[in-house]
Amino acid sequence: MMIIPSQSFFCFFASLILYTLASPTFQRDALLEFKKEFPIGVPDPNPFVVSPLSSWNTSSGDYCSWEGVTCDANSGKVISLVLRWISFNGSLKSNSSLFKLQHLHHLHLVYCDLRGEIPSSLGNLSHLIELDLSSNSLVGKIPLSIGNLKQLSALSLGSNHLIGKIPSSLGNLSHLVYLNLLYNHLVGEVPSSVGNLNQLILLELSGNNLSGNIPVSFANLKKLSVLDLSQNQFSGGDFPRILSNLTNLSSLTLTNNHFNSPLPEVNGLHKLKHFDAGGNSFFGKIPTSLFKIHSLRELYLQENQLEGTLEIDSTTSGFSNLMYLYLSHNSLIGPIPESLSKIVSLYSLDLSYNRLEGQIPSFLWRLSSLKLSHNSFTSLEKPLQVILNGSHFDLGSNSLQGVFPRWICCLRSATFLDLSNNHLIGSIPSCLINSISSLIFMNLKNNNMSGSLPDIFINATKLQSLDVSRNQLVGKLPKSLINCNNVGILNLKGNKIKDTFPFWLKSLGSLRVLLLGSNAFYGPIYRPSTDFGFPTLRIIDISHNSFNGTLPQDYFVNWLEMSSVGINVTIVNPYSVYMGTVYGYQDSMDMNYKGVETDFSRIYLGFKAIDFSGNKFEGWIPKSIGLLKDLRLLNLSGNAFTGNIPTSLANITYLEALDLSRNNLAGHIPRDLGNLSFVSYFDFSHNLLEGPVPRGTQFQRQNCSSFEDNLGLVGLEDICGNNHVPDATPSQSQQPEDFSYESEQVVNRIAAAIAYVPGVLCGLVIGHIFIRGQPRTRWSRGYMWK
Ligand SMILES: *[C@@H]1O[C@H](CO)[C@@H](O)[C@H](O)[C@H]1NC(C)=O
Ligand SMILES: *[C@@H]1O[C@H](CO)[C@@H](O)[C@H](O)[C@H]1NC(C)=O
Ligand SMILES: *[C@@H]1O[C@H](CO)[C@@H](O)[C@H](O)[C@H]1NC(C)=O
Ligand SMILES: *[C@@H]1O[C@H](CO)[C@@H](O)[C@H](O)[C@H]1NC(C)=O
Ligand SMILES: *[C@@H]1O[C@H](CO)[C@@H](O)[C@H](O)[C@H]1NC(C)=O
Ligand SMILES: *[C@@H]1O[C@H](CO)[C@@H](O)[C@H](O)[C@H]1NC(C)=O
Ligand SMILES: *[C@@H]1O[C@H](CO)[C@@H](O)[C@H](O)[C@H]1NC(C)=O
Ligand SMILES: *[C@@H]1O[C@H](CO)[C@@H](O)[C@H](O)[C@H]1NC(C)=O
Ligand SMILES: *[C@@H]1O[C@H](CO)[C@@H](O)[C@H](O)[C@H]1NC(C)=O
Ligand SMILES: *[C@@H]1O[C@H](CO)[C@@H](O)[C@H](O)[C@H]1NC(C)=O
Ligand SMILES: *[C@@H]1O[C@H](CO)[C@@H](O)[C@H](O)[C@H]1NC(C)=O
Ligand SMILES: *[C@@H]1O[C@H](CO)[C@@H](O)[C@H](O)[C@H]1NC(C)=O
Repeated sequence: MMIIPSQSFFCFFASLILYTLASPTFQRDALLEFKKEFPIGVPDPNPFVVSPLSSWNTSSGDYCSWEGVTCDANSGKVISLVLRWISFNGSLKSNSSLFKLQHLHHLHLVYCDLRGEIPSSLGNLSHLIELDLSSNSLVGKIPLSIGNLKQLSALSLGSNHLIGKIPSSLGNLSHLVYLNLLYNHLVGEVPSSVGNLNQLILLELSGNNLSGNIPVSFANLKKLSVLDLSQNQFSGGDFPRILSNLTNLSSLTLTNNHFNSPLPEVNGLHKLKHFDAGGNSFFGKIPTSLFKIHSLRELYLQENQLEGTLEIDSTTSGFSNLMYLYLSHNSLIGPIPESLSKIVSLYSLDLSYNRLEGQIPSFLWRLSSLKLSHNSFTSLEKPLQVILNGSHFDLGSNSLQGVFPRWICCLRSATFLDLSNNHLIGSIPSCLINSISSLIFMNLKNNNMSGSLPDIFINATKLQSLDVSRNQLVGKLPKSLINCNNVGILNLKGNKIKDTFPFWLKSLGSLRVLLLGSNAFYGPIYRPSTDFGFPTLRIIDISHNSFNGTLPQDYFVNWLEMSSVGINVTIVNPYSVYMGTVYGYQDSMDMNYKGVETDFSRIYLGFKAIDFSGNKFEGWIPKSIGLLKDLRLLNLSGNAFTGNIPTSLANITYLEALDLSRNNLAGHIPRDLGNLSFVSYFDFSHNLLEGPVPRGTQFQRQNCSSFEDNLGLVGLEDICGNNHVPDATPSQSQQPEDFSYESEQVVNRIAAAIAYVPGVLCGLVIGHIFIRGQPRTRWSRGYMWK
């Protein structure tokens, strides 16, 4: 007997009366009962809310016209129920009225928010031809009874939370053409009975924890066209041998498993278009036969242990039609063979992270995407074409020698150019003005290029990232940089550029990161009378130059990006919390972080930093620094700052590293700095400071050397030990009286600090980037703050 919710009580009886004329069918009632098994069956108390499946009601006539319902034209039996994006928010009960619809052929409940286990009574719907319960939140095991659905030709349970093994009873579904179990938590071996499904055309098992060998019985799957075993723990066994029997395969995906053998022979697979075996442990040479498969368009073998030279047999009739060839992160050696040029269809080639050497041959310049980074190539052959139409050229981290090739100027639509970490010499040619208008990313860092940075940026309006750091560039900054109004990161560090401070760059509305450190810049960074400020900057490094002069107390009032907490979502890429990830690259930089030169392989959007160290600034540190609430790193060391340390520093809540060493700062270290609970690196050494060191956990964790060489700091016993107190400390060995007031607050702060420490460590390990807490948390906070 059904339990009728009180709200529908009246409805229920009303409908009984209404429908005494038309005979109330069993089918219709089964549908209505099914609906009532879920919260959607309870009418919304708000009369203006259209509830889901509102068409499923007794006053709307023929149930065969209800949403998602199809009936057999003659018998009126429901044969198909196809629903998507209806939030059932409940589980299928084992006695569900759904199972009264014995004539169902098609049952699709996709993205329906179904929870709980799949009831084994589903196996009673013996006429089912298609069963699709994918993209729900189903848990538990796949019921054995599914093996009873002998008519099934398509079974999809993908994107749920199913556990356990694949039941071997699935091998009874001899009509099955399509089987999709991807993205669940299935474990164990694939039962050999799956090899009985000799009608299968599509088999998708990716994103589980399936392991062991692929059963030999798979050799029966003669019709299989798409086989996706990626993202599991498969280890192989006879699989390479079996593969040659799967002659109808057009797509084979083995990515991210533990296959550990020579690459399988697939040359008998005359329909194979897509072969992805990346992220395994395949070893040995790349079989030359792979390049004879006429049908093959995409070959992805990156991240394996392939070795030997790259050989392509071009003597046979019928060359390869490959378009995508990815062999990165292997151990390939030797030169790029000339025979590769015979693959005229080649569009995108990735050979990065191997041990290839020699010349980069000219024919490669016709490709659209060429990635050869992290090899040992020594030279570039001049292309035959005058205009190159490719878009992505990554030749970084090789051993390229000689002058910067002028014909790089033949690139007319390139968006990405990376020649970093090579040995190129000579000047950057001014003909690059022809190529720069399409470039989004240009990286020439760490070569030996000399001369001045040419005035080529007049049309560089797409440029987002320019890195010419660590070369030998001299002269002044070209004024045409003012046109780079999309540039987000400008890295000129480690050259010999001799210029005054580029105040004019402040009009670049997208500039977030400005790195001018270790050059020969000079003069003031402040001009009276002009409304100075970098509202958009998040990171500025002007360290180790000869900037001088004083900074007014209100110097930082316009640095808005650093003073607003969180990430400004109006300029954030929704897919990443790192800079410059939109076009398939990631911005990087190097910076002194906590006393160590650190390579940041990616730049967290929330990282805000000021490094003015190693210049000749004098006068007081501007009090307005305290406005930069979201600053993480402040380095003013190695200048000639005088006066007291501003107490406003205590307002930089998220500060993680503070270096004021090697200045002429006098007076006390402000007591409130003890409240900076995220700081893990302080340096006050080599100043004229005196008085008590604040008692905060963060202070107690510092090295003794962070306080050495001052006039008279006291209270260092806990930090330095009783025997070694670095300063010429005056005789007072006791804390001043007023210092005990803090003890209660200290306890609270310790608790807060401990909660954050794992996050800090974790962030550091992952990417040299310190993300405090989880990146997602910061991210969502960014949202909230806007
Ligand atoms: C019943 O279904 C009909 C047809 O879809 C619809 O117009 C009507 O509003 C529904 N009635 C209720 C009470 O939901
Ligand atoms: C789903 O049902 C649960 C109660 O079982 C309820 O707490 C939750 O809010 C519902 N979710 C939605 C999206 O309706
Ligand atoms: C289905 O079983 C549940 C208990 O599992 C019971 O409360 C409910 O009344 C049953 N419904 C029908 C239609 O039998
Ligand atoms: C449905 O199947 C279950 C077990 O799979 C069985 O116990 C039950 O009797 C069946 N119910 C009907 C109505 O056929
Ligand atoms: C279904 O499969 C199981 C396990 O593979 C097997 O034991 C059983 O005999 C099969 N049943 C039928 C009817 O084929
Ligand atoms: C696979 O197993 C590992 C270890 O038990 C677990 O951490 C991981 O989440 C599992 N993956 C899936 C997709 O279930
Ligand atoms: C697989 O192919 C080999 C030869 O290519 C053949 O000898 C063998 O019988 C085939 N296996 C099946 C199960 O078809
Ligand atoms: C091979 O696969 C295709 C789908 O790509 C399918 O249409 C065809 O029926 C299969 N051929 C054989 C012989 O099974
Ligand atoms: C810059 O772009 C303008 C307009 O597209 C074009 O007329 C001019 O020739 C370009 N200048 C250079 C140096 O490419
Ligand atoms: C800054 O340095 C320049 C030389 O680079 C010098 O002429 C000037 O007087 C200095 N200014 C101050 C305020 O020291
Ligand atoms: C956020 O970015 C937008 C667009 O660049 C800018 O208009 C706005 O002023 C920024 N907000 C803050 C707080 O910096
Ligand atoms: C710190 O910030 C608060 C609130 O913004 C302000 O009232 C206070 O004056 C600031 N302290 C210093 C020392 O600047």
